[in-house]
Amino acid sequence: MSSKIFDGLEICPDDPILQLMQLARQDENPFKVDLSAGVYKDELSQTPVMNCIKQAEARRLEQESSKTYLGLAGDLRFDDLVTKLALGDSHPAIVEGRASTIQTTGGSGAVRLAAELFKKIRRGCNVWVSDPTWANHIPLLKSADNNVHTYSYYQHGESGVRFAEMMQQLSAAQAGDVVLLQGSCHNPCGEDLSFEQWKDLTAFLLNRGLMPFVDIAYHGLADDLDRDAQGWRYMADQVPEMLISYSGSKNFSLYRDRVGALISISPNAESAHRVLTNMMTISRVLYSMPPAHGAYLVAEVLEDSELRKLWMCELDKIRSRINGVRTDFSDALQKKAGGDRFEFIREQKGMFSFLGISAEQVQQMRRSHSVYLLDSSRMNIAGLTSTNLEHVADAVASVL
Ligand code: LMR
Repeated sequence: MSSKIFDGLEICPDDPILQLMQLARQDENPFKVDLSAGVYKDELSQTPVMNCIKQAEARRLEQESSKTYLGLAGDLRFDDLVTKLALGDSHPAIVEGRASTIQTTGGSGAVRLAAELFKKIRRGCNVWVSDPTWANHIPLLKSADNNVHTYSYYQHGESGVRFAEMMQQLSAAQAGDVVLLQGSCHNPCGEDLSFEQWKDLTAFLLNRGLMPFVDIAYHGLADDLDRDAQGWRYMADQVPEMLISYSGSKNFSLYRDRVGALISISPNAESAHRVLTNMMTISRVLYSMPPAHGAYLVAEVLEDSELRKLWMCELDKIRSRINGVRTDFSDALQKKAGGDRFEFIREQKGMFSFLGISAEQVQQMRRSHSVYLLDSSRMNIAGLTSTNLEHVADAVASVL
C-alpha cells in the first residue's frame, strides 16, 4: 500500500549528541571511550543511582498510596524545595511571594516551556544566547518562534570568558529582550562568569531593561552548592524579573527520570501568580503534567536532613572526581602532547571542555582509537577514568 500523508514528512537528521552516544554504544572495541553526552561516570565507567535516591525510592514504594493526577504545577513540595535550593532558603523573592515555580520534564522541558512563555509575551521575542551554547538551546528556543541572537562568550583553546566582547555585543539588545545565561559549568565550554562579572552583567541588564534567563543544569558540580549559586542569586536579588530553568539530571543523577523546574521571579506576588497561571496553561497544551517519580525523590532528599546530608556527600564526591580528572588529564596531555596547550582544561569547571582540535582530528580519534567526542571537540571530562585516561591522551597526541 503506498503511503500518501506520511510521504509529506522528510527524514529528520539525528541529534548530534544522542547519535554519537548510540554510535559509541554499538562500538565493539573493548577499549572504546565514550565522551559524548554529558553524563557523569564513576571510576568504573558506571552512572550509578545515588544512595540517597535509592533510600528515597524505598520510602516511596512503601508510602505511595495513589497515582492520581497531581496537577499542572506537578509536585508542590518539590516546587517549593527546588526553588529554595536554587535561590537559598530565605531569598527575598521567596519570602515576599514573588517567586513562582512549575515542575517540568527535566531542564529541557523548562527551557521549552520558557520558550513558549516568551512567545506569549511577545511573538518573535529576541533571545540572546552565548556563542557557543548547548546544542539544543537554539532549537528549543526557535521551536516557539523566538528570534535567537548570539553573543560572543568563548574561543576554543582559550581560558576565560570573552567578557568585554560579550558586553559589547549585548549592547545591540533592545529593552524587553531575553539574555540566556548558564548558571555554572558552562555547556559546552566549561568557562563560567566570575562573581565580579555576574555583578557587572546584572548592572548592565538592569540599565538596559533586559531580562535574564538562567539555565542551571549543573548546580553543585563546580565548587559547591552555595559558591556555584553566588552569581545567579546576586542577580535574582537585583533584577525585578528573571527566569530560571533548573535540572536535576546531573546533580541528582536522575537523567532518565526527567526532573526539572521553571522558576520565575516577579516584582510582586500578583505578577508571580500571573506568570504561574501562564506556565500551567502552557504545560497543559505541551504535555499536561510532569512525571511524579523523580520529583518525589528530589523532594524527599531535600526535606529529610539525613538524606540531604548523604546527597551532599555524594555530590561532593562527584565534583571532586571531575576536578581530579581535570588535573590528571591536563598532566597527561602535557606529558604526551608537550607544552601547555591544554592547560585551560585544568581550571575549567564541570563536565565539559573543548579540546580545540578540528572535526577531522576528532573523527580520526573516533576511527583509530574508538574515542568518542563531539565534532566540535567538546568532550565529557566526567567520562575519563584512571583506566582510560592515558589511552585518550595518547589518542589526542596522535592526531595533533
Ligand atoms: C549534553 O549536553 O550532552 C547533555 O546535556 C545531554 C543532552 O541532552 O544533550
